[in-house]
Amino acid sequence: MSQKPYQITALPGDYIGPEIMAAGLRVLRAVTADQNFDYTVTEYPFGGAGIDAAGDPLPKETLAAAKASDAVLLAAIGGPKWDGAARTPETGLLEIRKALNLFANIRPTAISPVMQRYSPIKNEDPVDFVIVRELTSGIYFGTPRERTADYALDTMRYTASEIERVARVAFEMANRRHQHVTLVDKANVLATSKFWREVVGRVATQYPAVTLDYSYVDAAAMKIIANPAQFDVILTENLFGDILSDEAAQITGSLGTIPSMSSGANGPALYEPIHGSAPDIAGQGIANPFSMIKSVAMMLTNSFDRRDLAATINAAVDQSIATHVVTPDLGGSATTEEVTNAVIQSIQESRVSYEPNHV
Ligand code: NAD
Ligand code: IPM
Ligand code: MN
Repeated sequence: MSQKPYQITALPGDYIGPEIMAAGLRVLRAVTADQNFDYTVTEYPFGGAGIDAAGDPLPKETLAAAKASDAVLLAAIGGPKWDGAARTPETGLLEIRKALNLFANIRPTAISPVMQRYSPIKNEDPVDFVIVRELTSGIYFGTPRERTADYALDTMRYTASEIERVARVAFEMANRRHQHVTLVDKANVLATSKFWREVVGRVATQYPAVTLDYSYVDAAAMKIIANPAQFDVILTENLFGDILSDEAAQITGSLGTIPSMSSGANGPALYEPIHGSAPDIAGQGIANPFSMIKSVAMMLTNSFDRRDLAATINAAVDQSIATHVVTPDLGGSATTEEVTNAVIQSIQESRVSYEPNHV
């Protein structure tokens, strides 16, 4: 092959992180076999594993490798082992998002026909929406941030350009989908939310085909349960997006099914499940690998323009769900490895059945 191999940096992280990363990488290997897709994967310590290996949740070499690569795959970090650390695994996660300027985090929620039976809510209309979460500002990063014996302070701050750039991502996405953006905020209380409404309202004038409406975050939390089919693209700030995306995940049946993409203006995007390191089930071999496998699919589409390979993966995941080869979080009895094997087998079978007849 003439093209240089793509460089993928893999950050397995902590607890179930390495278990699901192994699953994701096996699926990547299977789906790319003989598909004219040349790549190398290099694993680096990150999160708690970074603290253990190099005394730093985001070791310098890990960051340098991530910056130099074409895409970054992250499983999950954090957990009780490092909760008391001076710089926690979570600090490393915020730092890598900032260092790669990953200001837009895309978290899809879709209840596909085969997933209907796992959903805890009744939904007559198709549920398929995307949360566009601002990822590098807001109360996660605002200063001052203080802590004394008597009080603690966090600061929620947004600039117009921080809002504009992520709003544009949401409107572009709505243009390709159902032309509907819902801005979720707390504009009845917060100055930052009032400001978001102003700035997003201005951006909206550049997208006349897209309808913009608003919802307060408390009501949005209710609507995600009561009538999730009303949403197409939810645009929201960092903290609200964190909370609502876990809630939205659960209406598919399990947090363990949802991938995400974090991207910036240029440079590599980062793909990761939206859930954490699940210390409560780590080491048992029962973590749901779908979130990681679907993150691999998102990477193939968005960083490598290989929608064909992503479609093969997603069809194989659906096949595994349809035949109820799923982990205990979805009510099944399969292990991570058995689910991964089923997905890979389905990928290989799809290849055989699509092989043209030679004469
Ligand atoms: P969590 O998302 O790890 O787990 C919440 C619940 O969902 C647990 O019961 C867990 O078993 C279950 N779950 C999550 N993923 C699953 C999967 N793939 N298969 C089956 N079940 C799954 O949240 P938590 O327990 O609140 O946090 C644990 C650690 O993860 C904390 O240190 C937290 O800071 C960290 N965290 C990291 C990330 C990340 O790396 N991006 C995201 C969220 C939380
Ligand atoms: C997520 C996580 C992180 C966040 C934590 C671990 C810092 O919950 O990716 O959703 O709050 O962004
Ligand atoms: Mn979260």
